[in-house]
Amino acid sequence: MNEKKNYYITTPIYYPSGKLHIGHAYCTVATDAMARYKRLCGYDVMFLTGTDEHGQKIEDKAKEAGVTPQEFVDNIVAAPGGVLDLWKLMNISYNRFIRTTDDYHVESIQKIFRKMYDNGDIYKGSYKGKYCKPCESFWTESQLVDGKCPDCGREVMDAEEEAYFFRASKYADRVRDLLLNTDFLEPKSRVHEMVNNFIDCEGGLQDLCVSRTSFTWGVPVDFDPGHVVYVWLDALFNYMTALGYQNEKYDDVEKFWPADAHFVGKEIVRFHSIYWPAFLMSMGLPLPKKVYGHGWLNFNGDKMSKSKGNVVDPHLLSQRYGVDALRFFLLRSFPFGSDGNFTNELLIQTINNDLANDLGNLVSRTVSMVEKYFGGTLPEDQARDMDKDGELVAAISNLRDKYEEQMEKFQFQNALEEIFKVIQRANKYIDENAPWVLARDMEANGPRLAFVMYHLLEALRVCAILLTPFMPQSAGEVLRQIGADEGCSTWDSAASWGALPKTVTVRRGDNLFPRIDMDKELKELDAIMEEAKKVALPALEVEPFLEEQVDFDTFCKSDFRAVKVKACENVKKSAKLLRFTLDDGSGTDRQILSGIAMYYKPEELVGKTLVAIVNLPPRKMMGLDSCGMLISAVHTEQGEERLHLLMVDDAIPAGAKLC
Ligand code: ME8
Ligand code: MG
Repeated sequence: MNEKKNYYITTPIYYPSGKLHIGHAYCTVATDAMARYKRLCGYDVMFLTGTDEHGQKIEDKAKEAGVTPQEFVDNIVAAPGGVLDLWKLMNISYNRFIRTTDDYHVESIQKIFRKMYDNGDIYKGSYKGKYCKPCESFWTESQLVDGKCPDCGREVMDAEEEAYFFRASKYADRVRDLLLNTDFLEPKSRVHEMVNNFIDCEGGLQDLCVSRTSFTWGVPVDFDPGHVVYVWLDALFNYMTALGYQNEKYDDVEKFWPADAHFVGKEIVRFHSIYWPAFLMSMGLPLPKKVYGHGWLNFNGDKMSKSKGNVVDPHLLSQRYGVDALRFFLLRSFPFGSDGNFTNELLIQTINNDLANDLGNLVSRTVSMVEKYFGGTLPEDQARDMDKDGELVAAISNLRDKYEEQMEKFQFQNALEEIFKVIQRANKYIDENAPWVLARDMEANGPRLAFVMYHLLEALRVCAILLTPFMPQSAGEVLRQIGADEGCSTWDSAASWGALPKTVTVRRGDNLFPRIDMDKELKELDAIMEEAKKVALPALEVEPFLEEQVDFDTFCKSDFRAVKVKACENVKKSAKLLRFTLDDGSGTDRQILSGIAMYYKPEELVGKTLVAIVNLPPRKMMGLDSCGMLISAVHTEQGEERLHLLMVDDAIPAGAKLC
């Protein structure tokens, strides 16, 4: 017997700092589709996912909630409605789930840290720089964008402490070579960004701070109390500790390492393509074969964020449309390597077009015709007509290869497109052959009609097999309805036309994908979101009032004016800044840059009347002059800052002084 080939694939391990949303589910569903596909092909698959439970962010949130960090994460991971439940609901077929608070992982991380210390790649120094708490990322001054975190655009804080460092600089050349001269990182479009920004940047690849002393929720450095291991070193090694590396819990390193693929979101490509290989090089371990950086899902063109109240809830959508429809939508609608824009319209449209019209109709028409014309079982006597059938036979026979080619490149959208071309072709074949006309004279046309039916069932069979990784339950139901038993539901049997027994018996079932009334559904979804927004509206964390008094004359020195927005645009290369051209009543345009791009779209601000302080000294930002400052109200919501531009009555003329 042939030895089974092994395949090891991972998702990122998620921060259990709040409820997971559709963006998290996106990566997990993609990984699940890949894992199921590989199993279908006959691989012995290890699919790992889990949660990344240490770090200051979790410690802070637990404090806020008045519980211990462990209680806090337990509640998000294992409680009803938590991470484990979500993956169960989404039918995620992971083989192993790691929590970085698991004892065996903690023990392994301590050993790994010590080994890197012993081999000289970790050394003690003093850390001085900037830290972005939400991202758990350290930055040097020169890496900041407009003084803010280059990943998320939020405020960073000063940090100085005694710390251990990892000698990343030592591995710069090898990592550069890995990125530029191998297929380690895909899509290729992400390679140059990594090399240019982090390796061939000013100062080169910097050593990485890998311990902290300012909080305690982490893996303790066992030979230096007070230090905890930096959360990213802790987190990245999950991919190996979960196989049993440096622990006795499992014994799968030899079988599954190196990993075949790490799927990760684009914002954590840096950790996976630079530090992760460098850590492994330091430990003398083989490198994973592939890191794939997928894009982000936005919602209605906006970044999903709790403070905008636009996080899409996978529980809600699965409940309304079914888990399979949701899984399908995610992988059918967006190319995996690029960002995608989630809208409710697109979701419903995709369900209606692809699932209800194309696939659902093909199944129900075919099965009911076999019942109606043949009592559910096809006769032995069937007549093929190569003129009419050749094209569909060829399409079915070639489908598996085309699909495989796309799946191997993680191009799920294209793989599904190939399947749907065949489904559409099969629907057209019904119209071309007009079974209802043939059925008028069964004596003469019976064999031909039987073959037309068989042919449709074959198209459905191959498509359903290949859809199984995406929609396990529904694809299984299609196979059941068309009478395909296990023997003709395999990967091998999908390679060619003709595996169904000639005298197959169909079993009619429920309509798989009911059509959705778009208008009605959109209204309901909008109403639900509005409700959710209200609920999500936080109790304001009020900034402490200042004790110090300001004398009246000093106050009067600040010149506040009403200004009208004539034009507004994003500043190139800045995630934060908008550039305003303002009418301040003087007759000359005033330019102000404001760090609010995360909260507003430029076009929605044109014409608005805002408030600016106009006698601040001009400042250069991103090479542009900013003459004054726009006034915003600011509040903090679960650690996230939210700014609201002060807008006043449009009847107030430009230049009016505020006093
Ligand atoms: O980053 N669209 O965890 P995390 C697509 N613990 N993907 C999204 C998304 C969106 N809108 N929002 C988030 C971490 N993600 C670390 C990982 S791995 C050793 C440690 C993706 O919970 C994001 O890109 O913040 C990332 O890949 C994953 O969700 C986990 O994010
Ligand atoms: Mg993250």
